[in-house]
Amino acid sequence: MNIATKPEIILTGDRATGPLHLGHYVGSLQQRVLLQSQHQQTILVADMQGLTDNAHNPAKVSSNILNVVADYLAVGIDPDQTTICLQSQLPALAELTMYYSNLVSIARLERNPTVKTEIQSKGFDRSIPAGFLTYPISQAADITAFNATLIPVGDDQLPMIEQTNEIVRKINHLANKKVLTECRPLLSNAPRLPSTDGKNKMSKTMGNTINLGASEQEISAAVKAMYTDPNHLRVQDPGQVEGNVVFTYLDAFHQDKNTVEQLKSQYRHGGLGDGTTKKILEECLQELLRPIRHKRAEYLNDKAQLLAILKRGSQTSKEQTEQTLLDVKAVFGLNIF
Ligand code: TRP
Repeated sequence: MNIATKPEIILTGDRATGPLHLGHYVGSLQQRVLLQSQHQQTILVADMQGLTDNAHNPAKVSSNILNVVADYLAVGIDPDQTTICLQSQLPALAELTMYYSNLVSIARLERNPTVKTEIQSKGFDRSIPAGFLTYPISQAADITAFNATLIPVGDDQLPMIEQTNEIVRKINHLANKKVLTECRPLLSNAPRLPSTDGKNKMSKTMGNTINLGASEQEISAAVKAMYTDPNHLRVQDPGQVEGNVVFTYLDAFHQDKNTVEQLKSQYRHGGLGDGTTKKILEECLQELLRPIRHKRAEYLNDKAQLLAILKRGSQTSKEQTEQTLLDVKAVFGLNIF
């Protein structure tokens, strides 16, 4: 289906556990800015999902809600085109999660590859919070509550889409008619941006990301410390471009693809130092992030305005999601008043 001509109901979102970074920018934010004028788009600030592994440190979530909203606005999400809402303000989502929980087995949840990987990397062992194991059900509630048809996601989120559609089919089967709508993923065509150390998934705690609100000095320090080719010791040595984070970022952010290709071939032949490639990259990141940083700071200076935007979006979403809840309660015969 051609998404450029077919208006879709889009739901996307982020766990509010930290400010957004360049990985989000290339992976999803740019895409959302493009989608907002053509489709009915809602962005969910998933604070409840953020709590599923942060309940011992709830400030990590609550203190990031407005940061994330400011990040959205700073990159060009327009609250008149995109509804921005807060998950915890939409009680229908929690209620739907409760109903759907009866349709999903623990074994099915334990098979979810993304959750499995997260459980291992977080070292939960047997102490997995029930809310964490079941967050794919809550995500299914998010998606179905909005009747979303198209979900822009990274490939790690594909198991959530699959889980959602299983629940949709179960509900529709129980109802013997179409109550809920199946959704499709929209994968971003941008390759995943590596962390600045070239090793890990980007994470704030690893200090290997560049946040959208990073200061000039932070950007400069991050680029200087960026992983290149460890065997490229002298300027005249031939260097490797593959796996060299500076080149991956140049591919992602430099406006002129020809220049990047020329730099790559020079680097491969020898004669181009990491200092030079880093300087070029730093200039282009400074240029990209300067206006974003300024807008973000302006928004964060006016918390009342940010709160008003989030409240307005949450109010719109509340009405939408409550309609789906009524439909699902009816499937279980619990629409008795
Ligand atoms: N799981 C998403 C993340 O890791 C956040 C999210 C919650 C989401 N609910 C959603 C994304 C619904 C898309 C649709 O950031």
